[in-house]
Amino acid sequence: MSKSRRTQSVGDRARPLDHQSAHEIQAFGHISRRPNALSEKAARQSVDNLNQVLADTITLRDLYKKHHWQLSGPTFYQLHLLFDKHYEEQNDLVDTLAERIQTLGGVSLAMAPDVAETTLIPRPPRGREEVPVQISRLLHAHEIVLEEAHSMARQAAEAGDDGTNDLLVSDVIRTNEKEVWFISEHLVDVPLVKAD
Ligand SMILES: [Fe+2]
Repeated sequence: MSKSRRTQSVGDRARPLDHQSAHEIQAFGHISRRPNALSEKAARQSVDNLNQVLADTITLRDLYKKHHWQLSGPTFYQLHLLFDKHYEEQNDLVDTLAERIQTLGGVSLAMAPDVAETTLIPRPPRGREEVPVQISRLLHAHEIVLEEAHSMARQAAEAGDDGTNDLLVSDVIRTNEKEVWFISEHLVDVPLVKAD
């Protein structure tokens, strides 16, 4: 091989093979069976349910960040920090839910337009809202997640999918219940300085 040919071939090997495309390897909604001792029916039901909770959890997570940024008023600092803490906790749930879906052989939702089409949480306005409205919106979103998580946890247990049941109860339900406690206390109308 000549010196110039050798130089060329080394250069070609280093060139990134970008702009590639091909068919999907697994369509959304299709279950890729795994040897996990679960029936395809049970896996499919859990994947469908988990994708719904995933879409709603992504939306709730993003609602926390919106309110973390757009907050105003005398409770700004404490709620700014609390909303971000809950954002991080919801973000951890998002990853746990998506990886459970993949574990079961399903395909997790991921991108914003797909999440927007799927979520049951009402779309908030782009503009800023008062703190009591922000918190009411968050509580409504939490309740949507909790209602579906309770019902889906029962379905998973009945189908023998103990892992999904455990995730929904131990992670989704417990995290959401605790966050509901923390933010709902901010809507209790008690005097700040002088007792009634
Ligand atoms: Fe921030």
